[in-house]
Amino acid sequence: MADNEHDNKPAERVMPRHIAVVMDGNGRWASERGLKRIEGHYAGMRAARRFTEAADDRGVEVVSLYAFSSENWSRPSDEVQGLLELMQHALVSELKRFHARGVQFRASGRLDKLPAGLQAVLDEDRRATAENDGMVLNLCINYGGRAEIVDAIKDIAAKACAGELAPEDIDEELVQAHLYHGDLPAPDLVIRPGGELRISNFLLWEIAYAEFYGTPTYWPDFSEEHLDAAIDDFNHRQRRFGGVKSDG
Ligand code: FPP
Repeated sequence: MADNEHDNKPAERVMPRHIAVVMDGNGRWASERGLKRIEGHYAGMRAARRFTEAADDRGVEVVSLYAFSSENWSRPSDEVQGLLELMQHALVSELKRFHARGVQFRASGRLDKLPAGLQAVLDEDRRATAENDGMVLNLCINYGGRAEIVDAIKDIAAKACAGELAPEDIDEELVQAHLYHGDLPAPDLVIRPGGELRISNFLLWEIAYAEFYGTPTYWPDFSEEHLDAAIDDFNHRQRRFGGVKSDG
């Protein structure tokens, strides 16, 4: 049956609780304008701010942004350094905006391998916003989905060796609890701008039942209208979580 067929009221839009974004296309956006790649990342950072504010305005509870993957170290060293410095500076100045909106900042990834200055800023933003009860912004940085699962397995194995748990205790709930932020709801929607239709090692455990939305628009051009288009598309999906259609 069509949405609200009987009462003619506009269908209510369901908001994804958690949106995860692979922020792609910064380099191509810059090259097409004759700019350096790092300028694409600066524009991407502004897009990230626009996106998180728009998602917050719409009542999304969690936004995860893929800012730097564990594979991104293989890029030219000046790009890597520029990108990490950009994030460090941005995260210092973003703190007041986080507070203004009650955003709780978190970071996911092998953070101990990041430059010390960036680690300090990540930690400062995390601590300073830990009591905020608004939207959670989860920045994935030096993040890899497989690495996250390996890290969870290591923690679980260490507990097993210490006699704190037995192999029979290991189930999905236990693995979930050992992820970087196992308390967060799983992403409902993964958005990938930039034209590629790949997951690229992003939140592999968490996205088991997420809906995927791809668009050719480069990330720096991703606007509120693009977010609304993604949410509208999400609203036309029939989520079954492995079951059968429930409204028939
Ligand atoms: C991928 O585009 C983008 C990145 C590797 C960097 C994304 C990071 C940011 C936008 C910074 C966000 C910062 C904060 C503090 C939220 P690409 O370079 O792979 O683009 P291409 O595929 O066109 O080359």
